[in-house]
Amino acid sequence: MERQEYIEFILDHYQHPRNKGALEDPDMLVNGGNPGCGDVVTLYVKLDNEDRITDIRFEGHGCTISMAAASFLTEMVNGKKLDEIRQLDYQQLIDILGPEVVKSRLRCATLAMDTLQGAAREYPSRKATGQKLIQPIVLTHTLLTE
Ligand code: FES
Repeated sequence: MERQEYIEFILDHYQHPRNKGALEDPDMLVNGGNPGCGDVVTLYVKLDNEDRITDIRFEGHGCTISMAAASFLTEMVNGKKLDEIRQLDYQQLIDILGPEVVKSRLRCATLAMDTLQGAAREYPSRKATGQKLIQPIVLTHTLLTE
């Protein structure tokens, strides 16, 4: 795609976010924060009995790229198992958002994915004790980009 098409893709997700809002009775509810700017994303996730995502919503406030990426992420991961989420590569997301467009904003582009992957890593230990991951934990975004 051309640079302009990537920009339009990002703007479309920012202006018309998919899966925005809260979910009642989620199996995972997590907050992620970008310490550099204070932007945050909250993810609500429903899982089936094989730990496959059956519904995912997001809320948050942040820059255009972080919110557009959160919107797109919800489409990208719906139907995937937590095992697959843990193995996702940032590059897969960056390639879709436009490497040239987001290369200087990688922390923004990956905030929601980093938050979801943190939750996917945390969830098995909660589940082993019979709990959901529904206390709003804050997972600090730690991706080193520069
Ligand atoms: Fe904060 Fe983009 S400037 S996430």
